[in-house]
Amino acid sequence: MKAICWHGHGDVRYESAPDPKIEDPRDAIIRVTRTAICGSDLHLLDGYMPTMKSGDVLGHEFMGEVMEIGSGVTRLKKGDRVIVPFNIACGECVFCKKTLFSLCDRSNRNAEAAAKMMGYSPSGLFGYSHMLGGFSGGQAEYVRVPYADVGPLKIPDGLTEDQVLFLTDIFPTGYMAAENCQMEKGDTVAVWGCGPVGQFAIQSAWMFGAGRVIAIDHVPERLALAKSWGKAETIDFTRQDVYETLKEMTGGLGPDRCIDAVGAEAHGTGSLDAVIDKAKAAVKLATDRPHALRQAIYCCRKGGTVSVPGVYVGFLDKVPMGAFVNKGLTMKTGQTHTHRYTRPLLEKIQAGAIDPTRLITHRAKLSDAPALYKKFRDKEDGCIKVVMTP
Ligand SMILES: NC(=O)c1ccc[n+]([C@@H]2O[C@H](COP(=O)([O-])OP(=O)(O)OC[C@H]3O[C@@H](n4cnc5c(N)ncnc54)[C@H](O)[C@@H]3O)[C@@H](O)[C@H]2O)c1
Ligand SMILES: [Zn+2]
Ligand SMILES: [Zn+2]
Repeated sequence: MKAICWHGHGDVRYESAPDPKIEDPRDAIIRVTRTAICGSDLHLLDGYMPTMKSGDVLGHEFMGEVMEIGSGVTRLKKGDRVIVPFNIACGECVFCKKTLFSLCDRSNRNAEAAAKMMGYSPSGLFGYSHMLGGFSGGQAEYVRVPYADVGPLKIPDGLTEDQVLFLTDIFPTGYMAAENCQMEKGDTVAVWGCGPVGQFAIQSAWMFGAGRVIAIDHVPERLALAKSWGKAETIDFTRQDVYETLKEMTGGLGPDRCIDAVGAEAHGTGSLDAVIDKAKAAVKLATDRPHALRQAIYCCRKGGTVSVPGVYVGFLDKVPMGAFVNKGLTMKTGQTHTHRYTRPLLEKIQAGAIDPTRLITHRAKLSDAPALYKKFRDKEDGCIKVVMTP
């Protein structure tokens, strides 16, 4: 088959890869009909994620048609049209039973490597390093889906693929980010990052009863989308001082809830912490550049909540724990428990409560992915979300 494979920092290629096969009775093979590039894939492209190997098949946002099922799969049949959550979960372990699917205790085949770094291993992920299971991803013609009775959700007729594709990751991710804010009705929510995750966090903040949403970024078309689609007020961090502006906008108190939808590769604007982050990351003395996280903690009102959907990889420098503790903040984080949200959010799409296709700026063939990875990373050509067809 053809697939998008990782070959090192800045190097992804469209090339031949081994066809997937049923390896376990609970597997299914999916013929991929739609797949997308995620901000998390950029951490791979930029070499931030350890334990990638040359030739690894990328991609964790995908949907398609069931081609083959293992003898243990009863909920799916050949020909079903399904979306597949980006995390792999067994459905039976102590964490899955609590619906903490991204913490599944069984699905990471290389749990020991992850446990060494984090204490305990999270779930396996599609196309996201050997430390997280070494599973081939869905930017490919075909993909093997383990625990196929648990993750894939059948899509009813009458919905297009573009409408439902983002149920695999970024819609649930933005939604969980808003849920993790533990909002009270009328709260002011500040969202750092107006990429795809930030956009869904904005949409979801309203669903949880926000009174105001303030979106922060520097890319004009992303700020414009936050304003037009997201009905958010906006701050361009290259033109305005984020702390001072938020303080002024909130009557001197600071936003009640702060969402970091930026993650490990934040840009600074010449601030000292951002310059040090960049230098340290370049010589591998640090794993992440947490400028947005620091700012969210600093700007949050006393007793507020910091919700972190943004992905961090390892060990962070100069996180203002003093501010965090002394202001009595709460932080909620995590890879999304996607399985928990797919059905309820599908129902929202069906009911017309949200139109996820508003996010798509680029449609292309899978073979165009190498160029589109760079376009998406560099925010060229107005690129906000890329959807591809193998
Ligand atoms: N928790 C999860 O399960 C999960 C799932 C999907 C994505 N993610 C993560 O969410 C994050 C965002 O994903 P995305 O697809 O939207 O990525 P993206 O790269 O398209 O968007 C990030 C945005 O942040 C902006 N930004 C950079 N520095 C900033 C700063 N200092 N202040 C404000 N904005 C800043 C960028 O301009 C960009 O628009 C990534 O870290 C990704 O890995 C997490
Ligand atoms: Zn993702
Ligand atoms: Zn499990």
